[in-house]
Amino acid sequence: MSEAAKESSNSSNSALARILTLELVRVAERAAVAAARIRGRGDERAADQAAVDAMRAELKKLPIDGTVVIGEGERDEAPMLFIGEKVGTGEGPKVDIALDPLEGATICAKNLPGSMALIAVASEGGLLFAPDVYMEKIAIGPGYRAGLVDLDAPVVENLTNLAKAKGVPICEITACILDRPRHAGLIEEVRKAGAAIRLIGDGDVAGVIDTTKPDETGIDIYLGSGGAPEGVLAAAALRCIGGQIQGRLLLNDKDKLARADKMGIADPKKVYSANEMARGDVLFAATGVTDGNLLSGVRFRRDGIETDTLVMRSSSGTVREIKARHQDVDKF
Ligand code: FBP
Repeated sequence: MSEAAKESSNSSNSALARILTLELVRVAERAAVAAARIRGRGDERAADQAAVDAMRAELKKLPIDGTVVIGEGERDEAPMLFIGEKVGTGEGPKVDIALDPLEGATICAKNLPGSMALIAVASEGGLLFAPDVYMEKIAIGPGYRAGLVDLDAPVVENLTNLAKAKGVPICEITACILDRPRHAGLIEEVRKAGAAIRLIGDGDVAGVIDTTKPDETGIDIYLGSGGAPEGVLAAAALRCIGGQIQGRLLLNDKDKLARADKMGIADPKKVYSANEMARGDVLFAATGVTDGNLLSGVRFRRDGIETDTLVMRSSSGTVREIKARHQDVDKF
């Protein structure tokens, strides 16, 4: 491609990314509203399904040639938006999509804080193509030197380094961890080191994003294993707002190893940085389903529906919070 053609293609891609920013808001809003209609009914599957259907319908309209590279479920687990599914009109740039139409389905079913509809987009090859398995994660917010914490370092060392860099004693550091039996050892180590823990029931994307504003959220570090799609989505978010995350896929049996191998993962033990999980220009959008630290949940009012969405772009570092009032409720 000539230099002039390259420049023109770059600028049209960039213009498209600007347009896509708002389109992604719509996608996340639709999924969030659909899930919110089933919020608090104790039926997580129905809420998840509603969010998936709404997200899929909205994605169909986007002028992209998109592929879901990491999400909930693989091909045989339809009706989820499965890994490898093609989305968009097919006419437009080739893009990778990571999504979780309803992050925190259980939270939504119980109407507890923090469920959201999530989506991230990058150019083809920009997002980690991986199976829907667990991922070990460690994340901290912006303002620290690269490599201050390390997935393979002892917990006490990471907490000590973080406390030193923050200029506080270790007892003033709070780690966010998913409340799961598999984390019993980790929880013990953190407590032994003298740090506090915020145990969360679900929703580790928010747990990671919360590290970027420790003064508001009280969370300094995220530790533990959760979904790999959530790891990639969190990496996309941190690419936009800053901070560090490292993740390693938990490929602990033959089947998972074979699935990963088929997806081109050469080193099953690889530790991925934010840049390796979400490369290049990345867009990220999240709409609240239930109220949370990050976003308000959907409100159904007599005269319309209100949504609260965070949408960000890595190349510009722009972070927008879009509080929308939708009067044309039939569209939802
Ligand atoms: P869903 O989007 O499937 O509802 O995931 C909620 C969640 O808490 C994620 O935030 C987290 O990564 C994952 O589940 C942890 O998995 P598990 O519940 O199996 O420990």
